[in-house]
Amino acid sequence: MNLLHLDASARRASFSRELSKIYADTWRAAHPDDGYVYRDLAASPVPHIGEAWTELCDYVLAHEITDIGRYEEAVRTPAQRQAWDILEPLLAEVVAADVILIGTPMYNFSIPSSLKAWLDQITFPKMSLKGRSFVVTSARGGAYGPGTPREPVDHQERYLRDFFAGHFAVTDVTFINAELVNALIDPRLAHLREAHVESVEQARKEAAR
Ligand SMILES: Cc1cc2nc3c(=O)[nH]c(=O)nc-3n(C[C@H](O)[C@H](O)[C@H](O)COP(=O)(O)O)c2cc1C
Repeated sequence: MNLLHLDASARRASFSRELSKIYADTWRAAHPDDGYVYRDLAASPVPHIGEAWTELCDYVLAHEITDIGRYEEAVRTPAQRQAWDILEPLLAEVVAADVILIGTPMYNFSIPSSLKAWLDQITFPKMSLKGRSFVVTSARGGAYGPGTPREPVDHQERYLRDFFAGHFAVTDVTFINAELVNALIDPRLAHLREAHVESVEQARKEAAR
């Protein structure tokens, strides 16, 4: 079993990082001899895809290449080789993983651009990552659970679930969300501090479990 652990928060003192660490530490204690790879997408951002990357993608689509092991056939120019050399190690980490753990904040109702840049690098048309599972530990300033007024604008969990199912054919996806973080900062949300603490406590327990 291999665990790939990613973090995407711009903050070091971050709830999504704390939760992903609890999950990873627990997992590693239970699998001491197994593989573990860590990547900090905020501290060491992956580049945005460029034109040569799109050429690789178009080639894979036009030639109906769905086997990840054959993607390199798309490399025909020095610029494409450069693009390949950036994406290949990122993709190899994903392919080698059984569990992909992502610690991510909600930014602007969605995911940070650092995580989106990583998704753009590793995602090719009609690829399959079947057999793997994703675990997402997230933190949000507000509350987006079922029945809340903001539920319809949760483009973080909804987006990632749709993405993993639609692009990777993976539905084994677990979300652990710490909510109402802004209650610690925004005076108008001060009355929600207790609910925030409860949400974080619950998320810590879920991450350890
Ligand atoms: C740039 C930025 C955008 C944010 N946008 C939202 C948002 O749209 N909705 C929300 O509920 N919280 C938002 N927040 C609050 C964060 O989700 C919250 O601070 C969370 O704890 C960040 O995760 P972290 O603790 O792992 O850094 C935003 C915070 C930042 C810094």
